[in-house]
Amino acid sequence: MAEGATYDPAAARHLVRYGMGLSPHVIVKARGATLWDQHGREILDFTSGQMCATIGHNHPRIVAAIQKACEGALHLYSGFIGPAVPALAGRLASMLPPSLSKSLFLSTGGEANEAAVRMARLATGRYEIVGLNGGWHGVTGGIASLTFAGRHHVDYGPRKPGTMSIPAPNCYRCPVRHCRDACDTTCLDVGFDMVDAQSSGSLAAFIAEPVLSSGGVIVPPGGYFPKLKEKCRERGMLLILDEAQTAFGRMGANFAFEQADVVPDILTVSKTLGGGVAIGAAITSEAIEQDCHDKGFVHVTSHVSDPLPAEVALAVLDVLEEEDLARRAAEMGRRLRQGLETLKARHEVIGDVRGHGLLQGVELVKDRETREPDAERGRAITDACMERGLSMNIVSVGGMAAVWRIAPPLNVSEAELDRGLEILDDAIRSVG
Ligand SMILES: Cc1ncc(COP(=O)(O)O)c(C=O)c1O
Repeated sequence: MAEGATYDPAAARHLVRYGMGLSPHVIVKARGATLWDQHGREILDFTSGQMCATIGHNHPRIVAAIQKACEGALHLYSGFIGPAVPALAGRLASMLPPSLSKSLFLSTGGEANEAAVRMARLATGRYEIVGLNGGWHGVTGGIASLTFAGRHHVDYGPRKPGTMSIPAPNCYRCPVRHCRDACDTTCLDVGFDMVDAQSSGSLAAFIAEPVLSSGGVIVPPGGYFPKLKEKCRERGMLLILDEAQTAFGRMGANFAFEQADVVPDILTVSKTLGGGVAIGAAITSEAIEQDCHDKGFVHVTSHVSDPLPAEVALAVLDVLEEEDLARRAAEMGRRLRQGLETLKARHEVIGDVRGHGLLQGVELVKDRETREPDAERGRAITDACMERGLSMNIVSVGGMAAVWRIAPPLNVSEAELDRGLEILDDAIRSVG
């Protein structure tokens, strides 16, 4: 525990509450996959912070990158760029297909998506954007209209005109009550029928996560994204893929779109690029960038092209490569998956296990046949995990499902992974 750390519970009275209960554990130190609270208690972090710390908390390379930025420049007038910013853009271009070679660096995932949507609107000269039910793309003004997970849109007035959603391809809970466990993408056809019926002839883009994380770790079936891209092409729409959580190794590949067999017109990345430091990027083709520029694209923010996060992102990409983290995530993902399948065989409450690499979802049900969600038991087990030193995240999707989203840092050790699974097993048993 950090020396001299104290906790005054009353201090929190000056905080605006933002919709998540605050844990009584005050975290004073974080390293790798471990957190320490104010009492020196160790907590195993199976959420990589807010899904960002994929290379582990306070990785020495991130600390060194921050120090390097401190010796250089932390922040500049938006018209100045330090050396790290073009270096990062070049580095990303070298990792991506040639059609994704132009990057804009911002501060958050929501900002990156705002920029992507603005580019899509400007480039196509249209305004309608379609998303997936259960998709999460941010909570700032424009993009909140395209976040269809949670209740961010309720009580804040109308969504932006021209924003729509189609059902997500949830194999476990078919949204159009058509199939069970094996999605044949009928939901995509039905969805686009609805879009065509509602569109005012101004379809600009489709935005999607390759795996819907906040929506309950929904993994679209093979062939879904090529078919989606074809539907976009037929209508002159661009495809935006939001890889806030899935890029840079977590899925067992550098990018999830590689596994989805599709290349987007615009790619957004954020959480996993900064490894815990705020950065977001919208990445597109030379043609779209040129077109937007010619049409007067403006997207100036206080922290656009800031040197500090770019320096950190370069370090994250170095570590990703040097520690071969995509391969490791695939390997450790198999171990995690196997452990979760064993728990499923042991505990009736686990209805489904799904995911890729080190992003696994575990769906909790009262009855495996009816698949009635068991959010209450899910919350009780999550609390029991925390009492035993394991931090887990449960997503309750509009009262429709209760899903643990398990995503430890990619360099989690085998021993840590096994300990987490043991704690989970014990916590499920304890709640009964
Ligand atoms: C897939 C996805 N996109 C975008 C966002 C928004 O990112 P931020 O909270 O950094 O604005 C999130 C946040 O959880 C996310 O999961």
